[in-house]
Amino acid sequence: METIILTGMMGAGKTTAGRMLAQKLLCSFSDLDECIEKNEQKSVSEIFETLGESYFRNCEYETLKQIFKPENTIISLGGGAFENKKIQNMLLNKTNIIYLQTSPQSIIERIKNDQTRPLLKNNMTIEKISELINIREKNYKLATYTVITDNKNTDEIVSEIIKCVC
Ligand code: S3P
Repeated sequence: METIILTGMMGAGKTTAGRMLAQKLLCSFSDLDECIEKNEQKSVSEIFETLGESYFRNCEYETLKQIFKPENTIISLGGGAFENKKIQNMLLNKTNIIYLQTSPQSIIERIKNDQTRPLLKNNMTIEKISELINIREKNYKLATYTVITDNKNTDEIVSEIIKCVC
């Protein structure tokens, strides 16, 4: 099976869906942020604070290169990773990329009490989330398939992904 990549905004449910998808399809799963945290021995927030966003963006590329396999793997990206052209080139036309599309309202409901997203620290607003979606959506839309996640549970999202790729 061609590797499946999950992309989309923070709070779209990429990690949860990716884990369940891997269990159902009996393949391996990697969450890019978790792999970066393991490599760097720091949380994503600590990396942003101490080394800066551009350092983190480079970690996304370098770590993805390490973990990428063209087959039988599910990889959840962080919400900003697919902005990177080098990452797009690594994945486009070689993997099934799924954009988990989520409205700003659903995103804020899901992550409003979560302090682990440095880009929304002190600015957890619908306006900020909408602004990021507006900037990013042209890249997210390069995905092979789009699955809307609003008002769906993980089981439903995973079933839709399976229908797309199988
Ligand atoms: C980011 C999303 C986060 C994490 C980092 C930056 C982004 O991942 O990579 O905080 O730029 O949207 P999740 O999408 O898993 O929250």
